[in-house]
Amino acid sequence: MTATFAELWNGIAPIGRARNGGYLRYALDEPELVLRDWFRNQAARRDMPVTDDGNGNLFAWWGDQWGHDAVLTGSHFDSVPHGGGFDGPLGIVSAFLAIDEMRRQGRVPRRPIAVVAFVEEEGGRFGVPCLGSRLLSGAIEPEQAAALTDREGITFGEALGGTPAGRLPGLTGRINALVELHIEQGRALEVPVGVASAIWPHGRWRFDFTGIGDHAGTTSMTDRRDPMLTFAYTVLAANKEARLAGATATMARVEVEPNATNAIPSLVRAWLDARAAETGTLDGLVDAVIKRAHDRAGRDGTEVAVTPESYSAEVTFEKPLATRIASLLGDVPILPTGAGHDAGVLSAHVPTAMLFVRNPTGISHSPAEHAEEEDCVAGIGALARVLGDLT
Ligand code: GLV
Ligand code: MN
Ligand code: MN
Repeated sequence: MTATFAELWNGIAPIGRARNGGYLRYALDEPELVLRDWFRNQAARRDMPVTDDGNGNLFAWWGDQWGHDAVLTGSHFDSVPHGGGFDGPLGIVSAFLAIDEMRRQGRVPRRPIAVVAFVEEEGGRFGVPCLGSRLLSGAIEPEQAAALTDREGITFGEALGGTPAGRLPGLTGRINALVELHIEQGRALEVPVGVASAIWPHGRWRFDFTGIGDHAGTTSMTDRRDPMLTFAYTVLAANKEARLAGATATMARVEVEPNATNAIPSLVRAWLDARAAETGTLDGLVDAVIKRAHDRAGRDGTEVAVTPESYSAEVTFEKPLATRIASLLGDVPILPTGAGHDAGVLSAHVPTAMLFVRNPTGISHSPAEHAEEEDCVAGIGALARVLGDLT
């Protein structure tokens, strides 16, 4: 099997692509199921048997299936709504092609290698990011994951076809290392390939702003209990607090009831995504936003309830491993990221590393996300060298 990057990439490009060029690839939904079939097909072409861990994560094996000390490499297929095509799939396509490259060089790994496709990394369908790696590593209870619902009320358990299996027994002995290749999502990488040093701690908080639904024409401005005002103030407060803290805060998903032009809403539900370089800064930021939302609710005669939906702790990737990989690749840059990854979740249990491929504009989670083909090919070569080194 000697496919080129362009052949594989063009093969999956139309799957789940919307008219604006962005992707609607949600976990276990039609386009993502097509990508899973593509995964099985690519694995079969390479004589790599595929296993499923019962959590929705797929593994294609070169060497013993779940033998001792496996090296995993891969990423995820799912996208954010109208996200780019590189975030996730680049890591899976590169993994298969890196294996082709190793075989072309006649390498025979001393430990099993598996290409992995993690399920629901973005949390775009069921709300909790890195759901597959959280389940695999025991960071979320299977019953809790099974009960998560999508926007239509379908549970993760229903989409998966049962309660997930949960933590992989003997996880640390079975996995020697995980290397995830990913498009860079900031503006800091100026050469084709880099290595990750850390992931900022981050999380998601749901804000339910409630008031009194009423007529837009007959309710005087002084009689209103309008949760939209409390929401609007909170968006501005989050932005200001994040700037003051040198952190990031984003409120970008919102639902309104009844969502009518001529009715004061009874409910505004919005999600805060907050991130910071340090845990203390993140906690302080979120506390400040919540306090300001409550203060404003007091003035608006509304109420606000805040529910934490997910938290991803600060990650520092194993320094000796990151340094070794960076020097193997010719002293490439080692840089932190504000984006979450399955490699970050698994880093609490097994040695993990990430390779970043240059993103010329830094734009991500957008149809404009892009990496040049020659940089992607450089990433594949780098991944093949790293896998060779680790196995
Ligand atoms: C995933 O890409 C995230 O950082 O939200
Ligand atoms: Mn992403
Ligand atoms: Mn990703």
